[in-house]
Amino acid sequence: MADWNPELYNRFRDYRAEPVEHIFSRLHLNHRETIVDLGCGPGENTVELARRSGASTVRGIDRSPAMIEAANVLRAKQLAEIQQRLSFAVGDMANFDADREYSIVFSNAALQWLRDQRAVLTNCFRALTLGGQMVTQMPANEHETGKLELSALAHEPEWRPALGGIDESFQEVGAPEHYAQMLTEIGFIAVDCYYHTFRHPMERSGDVVEWYRATGLRPFMNVLPEKRHAEFLAAYRARLERAYGTSGPIIFNFRRIFLWGRRPEK
Ligand SMILES: C[S@@+](CC[C@H](N)C(=O)[O-])C[C@H]1O[C@@H](n2cnc3c(N)ncnc32)[C@H](O)[C@@H]1O
Repeated sequence: MADWNPELYNRFRDYRAEPVEHIFSRLHLNHRETIVDLGCGPGENTVELARRSGASTVRGIDRSPAMIEAANVLRAKQLAEIQQRLSFAVGDMANFDADREYSIVFSNAALQWLRDQRAVLTNCFRALTLGGQMVTQMPANEHETGKLELSALAHEPEWRPALGGIDESFQEVGAPEHYAQMLTEIGFIAVDCYYHTFRHPMERSGDVVEWYRATGLRPFMNVLPEKRHAEFLAAYRARLERAYGTSGPIIFNFRRIFLWGRRPEK
């Protein structure tokens, strides 16, 4: 599979940062936390965790070498004091294995890429120190026009033979009740799972293609022969213009699911 493109991903950095600000508004950081950021991507959130948490140590883990390279470039631009507390490593969070090492397990917009989320969330619980906190956020916008149109396009007779092998299900996330039950069964307390929809003004409906090119379109592009990429993206853009009813400005509604839980003190 082609690697992630940190630059393309960061094209909508301000919008992608909104859910993280939401998390920061609720996450009470002490000054001596040990924090892990799973699926840290290009590292902006990991750096922010280090900046906002005094003398805490923060480790970012991501499967993509390109993302970790970008994160290390960002780390090198930080004050020496922050660099000392910050580290990044290439790693698969499906193999995340730690025992009472972290007071905070943080993961933003990454867990949706994993098939066995229960296993990872169980490992997150085990990784927490007693009383430690886990917070994760995932896109949950499968009913938004952009996602529906992508799926409909992929099922058209023209594209289905080339794209039929894609399993889109692993990107689907469950409802808040599903995760609340799962986290409680794993042993988390203070469980809180809920949706929040962010409203992103876009200058053109076609900008939604650019948004997804960095994320949700990757599995499609990975199986489609490269010579058909431009044609597929143009067909997707045309579908979006029809569905949103304009090629001009739109509000791109993006629903996300937040999961919070704590490991008991004993
Ligand atoms: C949408 S990006 C989010 C990046 C970052 N957390 C942020 O909020 O900006 C998803 C990230 O998850 C990473 N990822 C996907 N599957 C992973 C896995 N199994 N283990 C570690 N990282 C993974 C990708 O490489 C990508 O950097």
